[in-house]
Amino acid sequence: MSFQLNISENATKADKYNELLPQLEALIQSENNLMASLGNITAVLKQTFGFFWVGFYLKDEAAQNLVLGPFQGSVACTRINFGRGVCGACYSTGQVQLVPNVHLFEGHIACDARSQSEIVLPAFQNGQVHLVLDIDSDKLNDFDDTDQHYLETLMRLIETYLLS
Ligand code: SME
Repeated sequence: MSFQLNISENATKADKYNELLPQLEALIQSENNLMASLGNITAVLKQTFGFFWVGFYLKDEAAQNLVLGPFQGSVACTRINFGRGVCGACYSTGQVQLVPNVHLFEGHIACDARSQSEIVLPAFQNGQVHLVLDIDSDKLNDFDDTDQHYLETLMRLIETYLLS
C-alpha cells in the first residue's frame, strides 16, 4: 500500500497528533503483520515529531524479558529485564511512565547517554502487557500530558488492529 504522510508544518503539537492519528490508523488497519506496522509507526512518529529515539520493546515469553523491536534512532539495548529501567517499570506496572529527567529515575538504563527525558506506554493483549512504546528526548522535560493523551490513543489503536 502506498502511503503519503500529511502533517501541517506549523501546527501545534496537539494539532499534529490530531492529524496524525487517523493517518496512522489507516496505515495499520491495512496491514496486520505486527513488525511491519510497528516499524511504520516508528517511522511516522520520527518523521512528524523528530523524536531523538522512538521504538518498541516486546515481551519475549521464552526468555522472560523485553526484547528490542522496530525503532528509529541510535543503537539500543537489545534486552531489558522485567522491572528494570523505565521500560521494565512500564511493563511490570502496566502504567505509563512519564519521566521529565531520566537522571532522577532510579534504575534508568542509559542506552544513549544523550537521553534526558522519556515516556514509555504499554499495549495490552488478553489483559497483559504485550509491548511498550519508548520515546526518548535529548532535552529535559520534553514530554507532557498532551503526548501522553495522544500516545495512549495510539496504544489503543495498536491493541485493536495488531494485538486482538
Ligand atoms: N531508557 C530505557 C532503555 C531503553 S533506551 O532508552 C532505548 C529504560 O530505562 O528502560
